[in-house]
Amino acid sequence: MTFEPRKKLRIIVLVHEDLVPPDSLDGLSDKEKLEIKTEYDVTSTLKKMGHEVYPVGLYNQLKVIGDALMEYKPHIAFNLLEEFHGYPLYDQHVVSYLELMKQAYTGCNPRGMTLAHDKALTKMILSYHRLLVPNFAVFPMNRKVRRPKRLKFPLLVKSISEEGSVGIAQASIVHDDEKLVQRVEFIHRQNKTDAIVEQYIKGREIYVGVIGNQNIQTYAPWELVMEKLPEGAENIATLKVKWDPAYQERVGVATRAADLTPEQVKTLERLSKRIYRYLFLSGYARLDYRMTEEGQFYLLEANPNPQIAHREDFADSAEYSGVPYDQLLQKILTVGLNYAGRA
Ligand SMILES: Nc1ncnc2c1ncn2[C@@H]1O[C@H](COP(=O)(O)OP(=O)(O)O)[C@@H](O)[C@H]1O
Ligand SMILES: [Mg+2]
Repeated sequence: MTFEPRKKLRIIVLVHEDLVPPDSLDGLSDKEKLEIKTEYDVTSTLKKMGHEVYPVGLYNQLKVIGDALMEYKPHIAFNLLEEFHGYPLYDQHVVSYLELMKQAYTGCNPRGMTLAHDKALTKMILSYHRLLVPNFAVFPMNRKVRRPKRLKFPLLVKSISEEGSVGIAQASIVHDDEKLVQRVEFIHRQNKTDAIVEQYIKGREIYVGVIGNQNIQTYAPWELVMEKLPEGAENIATLKVKWDPAYQERVGVATRAADLTPEQVKTLERLSKRIYRYLFLSGYARLDYRMTEEGQFYLLEANPNPQIAHREDFADSAEYSGVPYDQLLQKILTVGLNYAGRA
């Protein structure tokens, strides 16, 4: 059964309790506006499209969702959660709860989230399918750091599960064992997660938006460029590159449609659809790649439920591919309503 897309829907929007969007942005500081931008863009656009929209703020009580389901009887839950009870990895369990309640929702299913949130599992699955991923090793917390011989420098050290480049800086790229140990210990201490150490892939930074369940589409490959990168620095998406506007200005950070040949675009589209299927993803996701000088694409990670604020990469690449923001949100709803994985 497919869903009639033009119908007006009752939608609950699941957000962190500190990020419940106000009806208007009037009187908020720039910082406050930025914090709730995604939540505000999504709810205000859905309302403009004529849907009935009920934001539901959550911290650690599933009962709040249960109550909202009883009260509003929503056609669908728009999932904007990135954590539950303070843990990023718990968001997948909230989706499991929605499945248990047989409630339609937007975005990724629990299994896809669990696999994609683990940067080691992701690569194990893809290398089973003989796709290119960086060679890697996991360094668990509270264990001595010993580099396996097969891992050759330069290496990149990061958290196994953290998002948003938390813990990633130029110092994440290491060239000897001493620096490797220091950086792994830094990740253990600061991120409080296991560390994953990967072969450093030199090249261009390319993102591909993917949407759908069985029938999937990709949006135009997007590239992150740094036009004024200082001598000796590498073009990696560090914490500062992602979140510090003054630094972004200084190193000339920009994102735009990647300048690729039609064959390269075709290769990336086919690769992205395969990866999306192999990782059991559904809803929508952004795949992060490095493209080497020889034109090979290495998947770094898959991001289910990526950032979908207006004017951010995912929405920009959709728009560039002919899907304006309101149509993108409508498509996300339709894909959620048609997801067949629920009982
Ligand atoms: N193996 C690698 N080779 C080259 N660059 C990498 C590698 N792993 C991570 N990076 C750089 O660090 C950034 C963040 O890493 P990623 O795994 O995508 O974590 P996050 O979930 O924080 O986005 C990437 O976008 C890329 O620029
Ligand atoms: Mg990433």
